[in-house]
Formats: sequence, structure tokens, C-alpha cells
Amino acid sequence: MSEKIDENRKRFLGEFFTPVNFARKALEYIEKVLGKNWWTSGQYRLWDMAAGTGNLEYYLPIEALKYCYLSTIYKEDIDYCVKLFPEATCFQYDYLNDDVENVFANGKIDYEKTWKLPENLRKDLENPEIKWLILINPPYATSQKAGAGSKTEIKQDVSDTKIRKMMHKEYLGEVSRELYVQFLFRIHKEFENKNAFLGLFSKINFINANNNQKFRDKIFHFIFENGFIFSSANFSGTSKTNAFPVGFLFWNLKIHQKLESQKIEIDIFNEKIEKIGCKNIEAADRKQFLSKWIKRPAATIIFPPLSSAISFKFNNKDTRNRIADGFLISLMCAGNDFQSQNQTALLSAPGASAGALSVIPEIFEKSMVVHAVRRIPKATWMNDRDQFFQQIKKFLTNLSPIALFGICFLILITLRR
Ligand SMILES: C[S@@+](CC[C@H](N)C(=O)[O-])C[C@H]1O[C@@H](n2cnc3c(N)ncnc32)[C@H](O)[C@@H]1O
Repeated sequence: MSEKIDENRKRFLGEFFTPVNFARKALEYIEKVLGKNWWTSGQYRLWDMAAGTGNLEYYLPIEALKYCYLSTIYKEDIDYCVKLFPEATCFQYDYLNDDVENVFANGKIDYEKTWKLPENLRKDLENPEIKWLILINPPYATSQKAGAGSKTEIKQDVSDTKIRKMMHKEYLGEVSRELYVQFLFRIHKEFENKNAFLGLFSKINFINANNNQKFRDKIFHFIFENGFIFSSANFSGTSKTNAFPVGFLFWNLKIHQKLESQKIEIDIFNEKIEKIGCKNIEAADRKQFLSKWIKRPAATIIFPPLSSAISFKFNNKDTRNRIADGFLISLMCAGNDFQSQNQTALLSAPGASAGALSVIPEIFEKSMVVHAVRRIPKATWMNDRDQFFQQIKKFLTNLSPIALFGICFLILITLRR
């Protein structure tokens, strides 16, 4: 396979291989919950259904491998795993398409049907005595919305799987475009009512992002055990400048509890795998997001739209070229997390794309608070996916106008440096 094709495939299927030292760290976190040498009891089975070249299992001792199932989509990867882990059961398998009808048959698994899963794995899945450790770093790819343009056509297909169709039946919305969420969707079905733990490397947005609220409400409400985050820049082939947190989070799938009611406290590691702190991931309901605080006034008056502070843009398909009656200024405040911090600005005309609103006298103070809150924190890879909440706004609205003015002044000085 040429390097170019290899690179395309990597992007297409979200093949970012876990640095093995972080995989080894994850094994320590698992031991904290399952006990040291958890495999020796013979009760556990491990299944990595996006195994790639087996980086997550690289540091497992040989004695543990006979209890391991490794499956992945590409034959050459599985051939490699067979050589590296001869004691494990390795097989080629598309987790988002193979056996999907069987797993979702009438709402429960139908063992009479024809399966592509190996028989020993199916028997273990049927055995109520077996405890499961799902250890996985599912693919990161996301398809674009239909009509996103020819350059992204390749990605439009990638998430068009049988699992996605199942997710549509549950009206899970946009998250069904994300392959890693599709994996979680099948896992929640496959391991329903089983004694199972999930060790998951992934982005952390399923815990706190706006689009994932339905997924959290309907599907993913399991007990958080422990975990850590590290920078995405540790994965080869990823951007060092737009780094975001990648989590290893360990979940108990047997016990159900809403994420909103749990304390999700995780450790933070630097690139040398040294612990540099702890952090809470807030899984609050999106109703508490700062972006939901201001009621947008209806914009009805046509006005030239801006794409930046000084340029107009008239040729948007979906042009936002209207202002509200009483217009003072436009507040651009796209998204609700720190990664959208730079999309926060005050413009003298409507912003040409989504995420701007007309500031009118009735919402002037609230708009200034939102602007200040979004501009104050320094964005880093650690907070890149944190959400802005309305609690901070309560603090700021209780400040006197002089204190508020002082804060805005400080922000301006900081930004000018
Ligand atoms: C993020 S990589 C992780 C690989 C490896 N487990 C690791 O941690 O380094 C995700 C892997 O899932 C594989 N994959 C993508 N789609 C898949 C599917 N539908 N079924 C099974 N594996 C898939 C990719 O080829 C890739 O090897």
C-alpha cells in the first residue's frame, strides 16, 4: 500500500494509533478497579473490537492473552495481530456492519441466526458467569452533513453504516455521524445486562457536548470509575497547534446512573506521562449552557452581513443578513465550548454565518457578560472541550457595573498584548 493511500485510509477510518505508553497507563487504571492480575481468575474476557495493530494490548502479559478477543476491519491489521498475539483469538470483523441485525433482533440477541462472530466468543457472550472488559480506542472519523461539498465526499460515506441506521431509529440526531459514538451504541446493546466494564480511549465530547445530550439521556448513562486525559498531540500525524484532550475513561456498564449526577474527576498527564493535575468534566444538561442564556431577538431588517470586522460577505447560501429592531451591535458567539473562543466578537453589522445575534438595549448587559465570560479564560488543550456554563454568568451579573467594566478593560489589555 502506497504511503498516500495509507494516509487517506488513516483519515478515512480515523486510524490514530494509541501511543503504547498511554495504553500501558490505562492498564494500571483498570487494575485499580478489577484488581491486580485480573485475568488470573479466568472469569474475565477482554474484547477490543477496533484493535488495529493491537497497541492497547501490547503491554498485556502473555498469560492474559488467551482471554482476549481482538477484532478489526482490515485483514492486514489482523494478520499482524495474529503474529503478535498468537495466544489471543484474532479475527477480521466490521463492528458497525457485521451481525448488526442479529444483535438488534427484536430488541434482544437472537442466537439462532447466522453469525460472523467466532463461536467461542458467542458462547462466552451467552455465558452469564463471564465478566467483560471492553478495551477500545474506536475510530475518530466523522462524516459531514449531506451537501457539505465535494472535498468531503469521502467522509460522507464513512459513517453510513448499519449501526447508524439503528441510531436513526432512536432519533439520536447528529451524533450518529461520529464513528466512535456508533461503536458505543452497539456496545451498549451487545453488553446490556452483562457484567461488563468499558475502558475507552476517545474524545470526551460525548460527556458534555450539546449534540450529544440525547445520546447521554437515552444510551450512555453508566457509572464512571476512573480515568485520565492527555493531549491529542501525542498521537502521530495530529496537529500540535489545535490539540484537544483525549480521554481514557473507565466505566462500569452494569450500573446505570445519569452522567449529570456523577462526579467525573480525571487525572491529567503530560507527554512524559507525568501527572500534572486533576480535572472535573461537567456533564451538566445543555439547558445550563451559556449559549442558551440570551433569548435571541427576531432579526427582520435587511442589513449588509460581515464575514470579519472589515469584510462583507453576500454570497452565503444561508446568508444571515438581518438585524433586529433596536440593533446596537452584533455579538458573534458561535458554539459553547472553549474551542470556539475565537469565534467571539462584537461586530458593527450582522455576522454572515451562524452563531451571531443582534444586541438590542434589552439584552445589552447579558451580551457584554457573555462576551467577557467567553474571552476571559486562556484556551489550552486541557480546556479545549470544556463548556461555558451559566453559573459564571450569575457571578458576573452580581458584579457592580464598575467591576464589570474593569474586567472588560483587563481583557482588552490582555488581548492587545
Ligand atoms: C483509533 S484506531 C485504534 C487502533 C488501536 N486499537 C490503537 O489503539 O492503536 C481505530 C481502529 O479501528 C479500525 N476500524 C475502523 N472502522 C472499523 C469497524 N467498522 N470495525 C472494526 N474496526 C474498525 C481502524 O482500522 C483502526 O485500526
